[in-house]
Amino acid sequence: MSDEPEVELEARLAEQESFDPPSSFTDQANVTDADVRESFAEEWPECWEAAADLLTWDEPYATVLDDSNPPFYEWFTGGSLNASANCLDRHVENGSKNRAAIKWEGEPGETRTYTYGDLLNEVEAFAAALRDLGVEEDDVVTLYLPMIPELPIAMLACARIGAPHSVVFAGFSADALATRMNAAESEYLVTCDGYYRRGDALNHKEKADKGLRGVDHDVETVVVDRLGDELKHFLGASAHDYGDLVDEHAGASVEPVSRDAEDMLFLMYTSGTTGEPKGVKHTTGGYLAYTAWTSRAVLDVKPEDTYWCAADIGWITGHSYIVYGPLALGTTTMMYEGTPDYPERDRLWELVETNDVDVFYTAPTAIRAFMKWGSEYPERRDLSSLRLLGTVGEPINPRAWKWYYKHIGDEGCPIVDTWWQTETGGMMVTTLPGIDTMKPGSAGPPLPGIDATVVDTDGEPVEPGNAGYLTVQQPWPGMLRTLYNNDERFIDEYWREYSDTDSDDPEDWVYFPEDGAKLDDDGYITVLGRVDDVINVSGHRLGTMEIESAIVGVSGVAEAAVVGGTHDVKGEAVYAYVILEDGQEASDAMYDRVVEGVEGAIGPIARPEEVIFTPELPKTRSGKIMRRLLEDVASGDELGDTSTLRNPAVVEEIQSRVSEE
Ligand code: WTA
Repeated sequence: MSDEPEVELEARLAEQESFDPPSSFTDQANVTDADVRESFAEEWPECWEAAADLLTWDEPYATVLDDSNPPFYEWFTGGSLNASANCLDRHVENGSKNRAAIKWEGEPGETRTYTYGDLLNEVEAFAAALRDLGVEEDDVVTLYLPMIPELPIAMLACARIGAPHSVVFAGFSADALATRMNAAESEYLVTCDGYYRRGDALNHKEKADKGLRGVDHDVETVVVDRLGDELKHFLGASAHDYGDLVDEHAGASVEPVSRDAEDMLFLMYTSGTTGEPKGVKHTTGGYLAYTAWTSRAVLDVKPEDTYWCAADIGWITGHSYIVYGPLALGTTTMMYEGTPDYPERDRLWELVETNDVDVFYTAPTAIRAFMKWGSEYPERRDLSSLRLLGTVGEPINPRAWKWYYKHIGDEGCPIVDTWWQTETGGMMVTTLPGIDTMKPGSAGPPLPGIDATVVDTDGEPVEPGNAGYLTVQQPWPGMLRTLYNNDERFIDEYWREYSDTDSDDPEDWVYFPEDGAKLDDDGYITVLGRVDDVINVSGHRLGTMEIESAIVGVSGVAEAAVVGGTHDVKGEAVYAYVILEDGQEASDAMYDRVVEGVEGAIGPIARPEEVIFTPELPKTRSGKIMRRLLEDVASGDELGDTSTLRNPAVVEEIQSRVSEE
């Protein structure tokens, strides 16, 4: 660190609006060609061969992009490959057998390291076991597992035999598991007895068992014994012990199934505007090429690195940037089971220090928590191994960006603020750390080959300085292909067609991610947040309709409106306005029932920050709930115009109830 006095340094950082990556970084960066955006634009779509070239293909593809039936685009058609062979076998064959593939640390501090050789062996054993249980190519296998190595092992085992996985975040409830298994008609489940959270052994199997009671078909289950004697569990009929299966199949050799580039690699359910979660379908060739390319270009991943994305594999970030991207590149990827503040608030920094982590990728909500805890925690540890930092999941405000830059990166690491979605498969808008100037708070320009454009309500590009809707005007390899079993919803939710009739011209089709954004003079995009009824709590996407229907399912509740209110650490928090049925009293017991209803239907992540009982909801004369107003009340902001309300008096009533809480 420089000798500059602390106060001056703070002042300088607070004012500085742009930062250039240091030469210590750019000198070694994977991508340094300043013209890469122009050359991708000129060579589009053939530019994406650069991504496909990072993979090993069984059959070479014939066409880079088939856009004959928009918006059902196909990438690398005619090619075939296997994702697990790309993440494992080829590294083992190329001399990296003894390199660590996964370094895992459990919350209580035990560690496990899997070399590429070890990982391949265990993946083959489990793939053989899955086959013995009856799993065939194209059967969807549900994985309901926390952050333990068996999760990526099961993913790769599925990929090896061509069975798409559907990972359900371990924090989701039993009901959420059942909904997803039913929607995917998934007849196989891999789960575990439990896991550690802040020192406690959590019972996970109980939740899985409860979920299974809501599944409307037979299911074969595999249970990983994570907790041993700490939590005894019993296997019922149709349940198998993971350890026994792997032992029985130890040494098995399972040929990777050659998959068509467009064959499904996995499904991932995500929240949308309506109550039903959407099954986002990702394919083998385009997704893997895109995650490998972005891991290399944006996260600057090198095989000899120790790379750590501190997300959960239950979300897309973990799929793309803990498992598939890093392993396709043959690097060492870290996994940590627990929370950042257990046993102490320096836990993550301890892991960076002891593992010499080179690249660290996390979410703004975590950075805001670190900021709140104070710089003493990172200062206890040697973080000098870090070369690059990243964020994802929600907008990062410049203050949090600068804190991260100074206190974690010691002003020597570029930060990539990466905008993307479950649906995009990988990063879309971000600076390239070896080339671009960084502007705190603004994600950056679109990646090479990505036509991200901010448009107005007529679909026309906005002038610099203006805000509008973020769109993507050309397809990209990592894009979702459809919503599982629901092509119609896929088109309705994401695509606008700018022509009078169903058009075959790809130029007429535009992808809408449902985010608002602002464009600046340098073409940098600042993402402002969702423009639909989806809220972003601690970087997790939640549909307000899903939460509302959970609340309305609680007996005694007549109506509910859920909105996001601003929150210091979570970014947004859930505020639930609830109208009770006649004769029902607002009470602590009722409050608890509403909270339990939400936790039961979705999980603790959707837990309301506040439940506000109200006799009425503010409605327009046409009967629409004025959500904007409820958001202002929740955030403690000045209220917008209330003159169009049918029942203006209710606003004061609601405000007084919020301030009582
Ligand atoms: C938001 C997570 C601002 C955005 C990978 C998007 C962001 C939603 C950023 C997707 C960012 C993600 N800046 N907002 N860098 N990254 N978002 O599907 O609203 O869980 O639409 O994917 O998160 O959330 P999802």
